[in-house]
Amino acid sequence: MIKISPSILSCDYSKMGEEFENMKRCGADWLHIDVMDGHFVPNITLGAPLVKCLRKCSDLTFDVHLMISDPKKYIPDFISAGADVICFHVESDSPVEETIDLIRDSGKIAALAVKPGTAIEEVYPYLDKLGMVLVMTVEPGFGGQSFMGDMMPKIVALREECKKRSIDLDIQVDGGISLSTVETVAEAGANVLVAGSAIFGSEDPKETISLLRSKASKYF
Ligand code: DX5
Ligand code: ZN
Repeated sequence: MIKISPSILSCDYSKMGEEFENMKRCGADWLHIDVMDGHFVPNITLGAPLVKCLRKCSDLTFDVHLMISDPKKYIPDFISAGADVICFHVESDSPVEETIDLIRDSGKIAALAVKPGTAIEEVYPYLDKLGMVLVMTVEPGFGGQSFMGDMMPKIVALREECKKRSIDLDIQVDGGISLSTVETVAEAGANVLVAGSAIFGSEDPKETISLLRSKASKYF
């Protein structure tokens, strides 16, 4: 099933609560919350206290993308703040299996992300425990970057591996997803689509979400 997860990195931070409410009206399935620590990536965004406040503004699934060096340390905070899906990077310093277990033991969905330079095979040992894998289609850190089409073979290989092992996995893409790139990622096998600038920079976010969904749905 296609899920559209607007990245709030591109929203107006002075009225985040309203932006969250509006995304539900516009037909978003999830809300993608980018957490950056200025260490794992060269940018700083927000932390668990803000996520906790925003939880009051939306009942959509909170899809928290942790771009931080030591996710294991902060995961309990994000869980009590109301995160539903917690995604951390395989390149982080935390022990991967233990971190996945920590998320799952709290009844949340564990997801693992790979940067563009990381081989997709790095996530294969954990597929049985994961609800989702995020294949980055830009270098993490900033919104509005150009889509990296050369990541598609990673998505194709991952979808193939899941089929082979009969695993029903969400494959998420993040970075440069727009009306002109969405079909490429869906055709490769991605079904959870993060879009920041394409949605928040659009004149009509509702129409953009609907078009992203219909273009991607052709492949599922
Ligand atoms: C980048 C973030 C993305 C970002 C995507 O590191 O993980 O979620 O907001 O922005 P767009 O969709 O504008 O490329
Ligand atoms: Zn993200």
